[in-house]
Amino acid sequence: MNLSLLPSEIEKAATEFGLLLEKCSNLDAAMRLKGQYIGREDSFVAQMMGLLRVAPKEQKRELGATINELKSIWENALRDRQSLLVEERRRNDASALAWDNTLPPPMPLKGALHPLTSLIDRLVEIFRPLGYHVEEGPEAETEENNFDGLNIPADHPARGAGDTFYFAGHQELLLRTHTSPVQVRTLKKLAPNIGKKGGIRFLAPGRVYRKDELDPTHSPMFHQLEGMLVGRDIGMHHLKGTLAYAMKSLFGSEADIRFRPSYFPFVEPGCEVDVRCPLCFGKGCRVCKNSGWVEILGAGLVHPKVFVYAGIDPDIWSGFAFGMGVERIAMMVSQTPDLRLFFENDQRFLASMGGLG
Ligand code: PHE
Repeated sequence: MNLSLLPSEIEKAATEFGLLLEKCSNLDAAMRLKGQYIGREDSFVAQMMGLLRVAPKEQKRELGATINELKSIWENALRDRQSLLVEERRRNDASALAWDNTLPPPMPLKGALHPLTSLIDRLVEIFRPLGYHVEEGPEAETEENNFDGLNIPADHPARGAGDTFYFAGHQELLLRTHTSPVQVRTLKKLAPNIGKKGGIRFLAPGRVYRKDELDPTHSPMFHQLEGMLVGRDIGMHHLKGTLAYAMKSLFGSEADIRFRPSYFPFVEPGCEVDVRCPLCFGKGCRVCKNSGWVEILGAGLVHPKVFVYAGIDPDIWSGFAFGMGVERIAMMVSQTPDLRLFFENDQRFLASMGGLG
């Protein structure tokens, strides 16, 4: 493909796609078409993205927007077709049974990883080559691990019963409000060997709970991916390099991040990190609320008090930590505007995510 031919190539592909989609008579065919046109590798959109990288600056924006628009039109069309095919299959299965009940029962849909699980797995694989392993902690946590060990003072508003779910009759137990208590647990656990290992690196994915009303962008239960690195002379530049690498691995080499100063009691300095909206390349769209950027995580350099609490000498060791919002990232990766879809287990949605077959 040649750059000057792009508009006509795109037009041709759009027509072809429509015709082929009409012809898809089963979910496998729809999935194959999806791979061919919008898959990650070798698809039409992937090739276009490749060309976009070498396009002259003045063409980039417009072309990028066109490709993204096309991609989202195709995704919607595929989703509609897939739900239609799922419906049709159900009807056929039902009518087959109605006239011959000696036939074997309809096969249940095949199970698959949930889109959030797949995304967490992908992120873990992105960090693995950097030496990170996975640590876990319980969802029912102690106040010590969730707050005290993280230098969150007793009168901090987040500790109130208005924000945090406490277990009735067990005031010291709560549903963890973030994955940061896994920092406390893991630092304590690995502190005795920290010298021998030359530091600590881990990820901690999991569910967290806050008293938020359920709406398209909030849920009382959601997922975070915590990351932590402890070493010698660790600074913000290490944090920035690590996160830039991770976001480029996830969203492609065009991905860009920016840091904004922020405050969390367990880091100093603290920041929030935005990624340039991968749907509109920063131009402004519904997903980034026209700002061109989407906030995806809180981070910073580990506060000395967190080290002291865990029995690690802050004069020797320094580190960074971050906590990503998994649903936020999933919404961008899959262009899903409503996070409730991730929890409702509607099979049409899961099938459209490439899960069920
Ligand atoms: N725990 C913080 C939150 O839930 C995020 C965070 C993690 C911030 C690690 C700094 C370091 O908002």
